Amino acid sequence: METLDIAPTASALLKSLRGLGYTPETALADLIDNSITAGAKTIALSIDWNEGDPRIAVRDDGRGMSLNQLTDAMRFGGEGPDAPRVADDLGRFGLGLKTAALSQCRRMTVASAQGSGCACLSWDIAVVSETRKWTALVDADIPIFEHVQPIGPSDVGTMVVLEAMDELGGLFGLDSERFYARLADIRAHFAMVFHRFISGDARRVRISINGRDVAAWDPMLRTHTATRMLGSGQIGTGPQAIRATSYVLPHRDMFANDQEFQAAGGPGGWAERQGFYVYRGDRLVVAGSWLGLGERREWTKDESSRLARIAIDLPTACDPAWRIDVIKARARPPAALRSRLVRTGIECRDRAREVFAWRGGQVRPRSDTRQASPLWQEEHVSGRRRYRVDRDHPVIQALFEQGSETTRLARAAISLIERTVPIERIWLDVSEDVEVPSGGADGGAGLIEDLITAVRSSRSDLPASEILDGLLRGMRIVDPALRKTVLAAVGGTE
Ligand SMILES: Nc1ncnc2c1ncn2[C@@H]1O[C@H](COP(=O)(O)OP(=O)(O)O)[C@@H](O)[C@H]1O
Ligand SMILES: [Mg+2]
Repeated sequence: METLDIAPTASALLKSLRGLGYTPETALADLIDNSITAGAKTIALSIDWNEGDPRIAVRDDGRGMSLNQLTDAMRFGGEGPDAPRVADDLGRFGLGLKTAALSQCRRMTVASAQGSGCACLSWDIAVVSETRKWTALVDADIPIFEHVQPIGPSDVGTMVVLEAMDELGGLFGLDSERFYARLADIRAHFAMVFHRFISGDARRVRISINGRDVAAWDPMLRTHTATRMLGSGQIGTGPQAIRATSYVLPHRDMFANDQEFQAAGGPGGWAERQGFYVYRGDRLVVAGSWLGLGERREWTKDESSRLARIAIDLPTACDPAWRIDVIKARARPPAALRSRLVRTGIECRDRAREVFAWRGGQVRPRSDTRQASPLWQEEHVSGRRRYRVDRDHPVIQALFEQGSETTRLARAAISLIERTVPIERIWLDVSEDVEVPSGGADGGAGLIEDLITAVRSSRSDLPASEILDGLLRGMRIVDPALRKTVLAAVGGTE
C-alpha cells in the first residue's frame, strides 16, 4: 500500500505538550519520581524567586546518565507506556521529564554525571521554533543561584534546571509574598505525596527545598493513639491485586490543640482530604477522593465523613486498568473492583460518621451496653427522622413528678423545644465546619451545677454514682475529674 510519512511540526507539538495540566506541584513531583526511580537518597530542590522570573533546580544523587542515556531520556515518549517497568519504577509514559519541566518554563536543561564527565542537554522552545526541528542544545550554560550545588564531572547524579518561565507555569510573575506562599503549598504537596519515602516506610529519601528538609505528612495519622485501623485486605487476585487499608482518624476533641488538629487535616483541610488514598509503588497519586464511587449517588465529601481515609496500594502493573494519567494525579478504579471498594467505603464512612458525631471524649466501644441515659432519641415517623427528648430520662422524670401544674408546663416546654430544634441551621454549621460547642465536655461550672441538681433530684433507687455514670454516658462525657467533683458534691461514694 502507498504510504506517506507525516511528521509532527516540532514547535507546535512542543507547545501543546506544555498544556497537559501540570501545576508546579505536580510537575516537580514528576521530576522527583525520576530521581527516586534512579535510586537517589537525597533530592535537593532550589527554587529562586528572582524578582518574579523564577528558576528551579532539582539535584539528585541517583545513578546518573551517560550522554547516550541522557539523549534517550530527552527523547519525547522515550520508553513509552508499554515498556515493561520494574516494580519500583515511578515513570509511566516516557514524557514526564520533558513535559513536566516545559509545562513551567521555556527552557529546561538536564545535566547528568556518572563519575567520569558530565553530559548536558537542553530543550529550548525558542530554538525548536526557530529550527522547526527537534533540535536540542548541547552543553548550554546553566544558571547558578542560591542553594544550587552544580554537578561536577566526578559526581554521580542528575540535575534538572528550569528557566525562562512564563504565564503557562504557576510560579511566574508573582510578588515575593505570593511566591513564598506557593512554596509552602509545594512543600506540603511533597510532604503528602512522598510521605512513605520521607518517613522511611518505603525506601528512605531525603527531599529538601532551599536547604530545608521536607517533613513527612502521614494522611493516616498512624502515630496518634486515637487513630483506628479498621482492617486491611486484598482485593482481587494475581498481578492486578490491590490492598485496601481503612482508617478512622480521631475526633477533633482528641487533639492537643487546634493547630495539631488543622495539621492532621492536611492541605485543603479535613473535608477535602477524606476518601481513598491511592498509592502507586508507595507514591501517592490520589490524595483523598471517593473515586466516583457511591451507593445510589456518588459519595460527596461531607463534613460528617471527613475522618474516613482508606489507603489503596497499587502495583505499577495496574496502571492501564486504573487509568493512571500522564501527570499522575488521577486514577479510576476498574469496574471489576468497584463493588468491593464500595463496601470498603461504606464501612469506613459509617464508622467515621460515628466518631464524628461522638463528642466530648473517647469513643465508647460498641460492646459497651452499660446503662446510659441519653436525653435525645431518634424516631422514624413515616420515613422522616424526628428528635425527641426521652420522657424516661431521670432528669425529665423528676421534673414531671413535681406537681401537676409544673408537669404540664414542663411537657409543653419540652414539646416546643423538640419542635423547634434548628436542624437545618446545625446541619449547615456542621457542613461548613463552624465550630459547634460539644454537648458537655466544655460546659464548665454550669455543667457541674446541672449534674449535681440532676443527681439530687433523681427518683431512682440506684446509688448516686450509678445515676451520675448513666447521665455522663448519655452525654458521651468521659471526664474523671468532673465525675469526681460532682460525686463529692452529692455525697456519693463509689
Ligand atoms: N533524575 C534522573 N536520574 C536518572 N535517570 C533519569 C532521571 N530523570 C529521567 N531519567 C531517565 O529518563 C527517562 C525518561 O524520563 P521521563 O521522561 O520522566 O519518562 P518516564 O519516567 O515515564 O520513563 C527515564 O526512564 C530515566 O531512564
Ligand atoms: Mg518520569
